[in-house]
Amino acid sequence: MSSTTTSRCPFEHIQNPDQEAEQIAETTDLTVKLLDKRYPPPEQILRGVHPKSHGCVKATFTINSDIAPEFQVGLFAEAGKQFDAIIRFSNAAALVRPDIDKGKHGSRGMAIKVFDVGGEVLIDDNGAHNQDFLMINQPVFAFANTEDYLRLDKILFERGDDNAPEFFAPLQLKLNPNITEEEKRRILAYMEAENISEEAMRRMGASAKIIAGIQSTPVANPLGIQYFSAAPFLFGSDRVMKFSAMPCAVVPPTDVPDSPPPDYLSDALTETMNRNEELHFDFMLQVRRECDDFGVDNELIENASSEWHDDFVSVAKITIPAPQPEVDTAEHKARCEKLVFTPWHSLVEHQPIGSINRLRKDVYQASATHRLEQPEPLPSFVRLLEKLFKSLFG
Ligand code: HEM
Repeated sequence: MSSTTTSRCPFEHIQNPDQEAEQIAETTDLTVKLLDKRYPPPEQILRGVHPKSHGCVKATFTINSDIAPEFQVGLFAEAGKQFDAIIRFSNAAALVRPDIDKGKHGSRGMAIKVFDVGGEVLIDDNGAHNQDFLMINQPVFAFANTEDYLRLDKILFERGDDNAPEFFAPLQLKLNPNITEEEKRRILAYMEAENISEEAMRRMGASAKIIAGIQSTPVANPLGIQYFSAAPFLFGSDRVMKFSAMPCAVVPPTDVPDSPPPDYLSDALTETMNRNEELHFDFMLQVRRECDDFGVDNELIENASSEWHDDFVSVAKITIPAPQPEVDTAEHKARCEKLVFTPWHSLVEHQPIGSINRLRKDVYQASATHRLEQPEPLPSFVRLLEKLFKSLFG
């Protein structure tokens, strides 16, 4: 991967660039350390987030033939132009667990790779000029900015699982009238050590609400729901966008099974891709201009938990041809594992912006490099022979 230096963007307001650079470096370092902790040799290292795939499908991405001239920017410049694409559907959870884990639903991901888009890119994709669109099934991201994400990551690292109740502990001071003095002292000491401000407390409350929403949102079929970028991107030099993909029709099944198997989402995807029925998503944009209101401290750019309420406009159509019975084969799944998606695989016109997106640049590269540089895992019978040899000959 080679990358161009990114110009300063007029929409971004980085309050303390040196501090943010340090936070990004620390989170990137923790990402790699966490992977080593989660996957000790000879285990195969998976993605730092979204390790569980429901399947990869091939698709086409076609710019609407009637796209309005004001939206003909970057990838969307040429009406009617069609690109090949691949889409990976996933669970966001950092560990591979049942799709409904201990009764709780989770965040779901849709990552689209649009191939050979031409133009100037920020980071090339193994030499190719591809445009990736990464989305989750909520219009907002649960953590507002780099500062909050680093605090979360430190807790995840300490605990070694994908649960961080300590992150939300300060809210207990406001919400729990029965909190003990000892607990109160512990939380206050943590808040002082982490320099948690009133503003950070407000963001923490918003994060807790978003997570409660995720955990109570049932998804029956990854191919049947709407996905969102949550974070913002440039739209040419003088506008910004968020994007979303929405199915054009109802895609059965629409209800979660009564006793859902651990991988019921990949079952639903495989079953859908075995049907002889093409699927379509509308790819839509929310576009804002420099003269629009972006809130105090550019909240709508710098806080990925803040929702934009502008109308979505359809600019392209995603077509997933069917049937694709190969989605369930070991060979196809292995190829899907090796794909690398990052919001920074992007045309310069759609540069990722805002604190969370600046953080993602180094973190995705570190996660992908670390997992792909790992030697291929040995087949289990070779590992067994190795063990036997060691036990016999020391
Ligand atoms: C708006 C916010 C975000 C969205 C919509 C998002 C979405 C996604 C999606 C859909 C994937 C799966 C890509 C695939 O299928 O390979 C992914 C992967 C990943 N995400 Fe995010 N994400 C967001 C924020 C973050 C943040 C803040 C971090 C950490 C700093 C992060 C770290 C990762 C990592 C490490 C991977 C795996 C990269 C790899 O090994 O290839 N994400 N993300």
